Amino acid sequence: MSNALNDSETKQTTEGTDTQPTSTTTAGETEERVREAWTDYDFAGDPKLSVEDLNVWYGDDHALKDVSMAIPENSVTALIGPSGCGKSTYLRCLNRMNDRIKAARIDGSVELDGTEIYDPNANLVELRKRIGMVFQSPNPFPKSIRENISYGPRKHGDIEKGLLARLFGRDDTAEEDELVERSLKQAALWDEVNDRLDDNALGLSGGQQQRLCIARCLAVDPEVILMDEPASALDPIATSKIEDLVEELSEEYTVVIVTHNMQQAARISDQTAVFLTGGELVEYDDTDKIFENPESQRVEDYITGKFG
Ligand SMILES: Nc1ncnc2c1ncn2[C@@H]1O[C@H](COP(=O)(O)OP(=O)(O)O)[C@@H](O)[C@H]1O
Ligand SMILES: [Mg+2]
Repeated sequence: MSNALNDSETKQTTEGTDTQPTSTTTAGETEERVREAWTDYDFAGDPKLSVEDLNVWYGDDHALKDVSMAIPENSVTALIGPSGCGKSTYLRCLNRMNDRIKAARIDGSVELDGTEIYDPNANLVELRKRIGMVFQSPNPFPKSIRENISYGPRKHGDIEKGLLARLFGRDDTAEEDELVERSLKQAALWDEVNDRLDDNALGLSGGQQQRLCIARCLAVDPEVILMDEPASALDPIATSKIEDLVEELSEEYTVVIVTHNMQQAARISDQTAVFLTGGELVEYDDTDKIFENPESQRVEDYITGKFG
């Protein structure tokens, strides 16, 4: 998709005069009042995740401001915006990973299939099983490829192995083999590693390690997969493998992906949310609309590379 923007006639009629730039920030960003209509993304079907008035502070730093955003299921939602605008913070709120950051204070609501995940009685282990996460740098365990996959399901008690399991007449070796194969196939890694499943995962290339992390995430059978710049540490070939994989996964899973690569967002996502300086969600719409004809002047400036 190109950066074909600048339909200036449409802009004037849709934006009126109150959104004209008044001054410029240090980031080179013009100022503009955010309109609710720009973030009120309309889609068919029920949302998988529904975020209402989400605010995050780190000490006095207000990192995320009044973000409301519903995420449709079985699709790819891209989060883009300049560094420091709160994309990772937002993503971490979706499976309560920010709970682990002492300085973070979170206010607002996030519902998964209509159920509040910030309910004090929510089961965080179960939540993070349903909403998995893949990070920027691949972080496989320093264990075998096989163990990287089976670790989660074993922890959750879905697979039992070893002496104790055998004593109780249960040994899920066959189930484990099946799960390892299925997860690695889903992550498009099986063909490259099936003859060395017992080798240490740290011996894989960066791109393979990242696909292993995706396979590990899939092994616990999640519903949502959060990815924070999953390809930014990878070379172009490994990146394109991850991109293909993300598109395939969205047939079965709800994928939310942070990327600072706008071409990547344009290529692989169905809808795009643009966060800008100050932790604001400025615009959220079909990816085509965001890249071809955004409503916000600031989004247009960002996409055409005028700042950020
Ligand atoms: N663990 C943290 N402790 C304190 N401040 C943080 C922490 N994580 C992020 N921030 C601050 O919150 C803001 C948003 O950061 P982040 O969500 O990482 O943005 P992005 O992912 O868009 O680059 C930044 O000002 C950053 O410095
Ligand atoms: Mg980030």
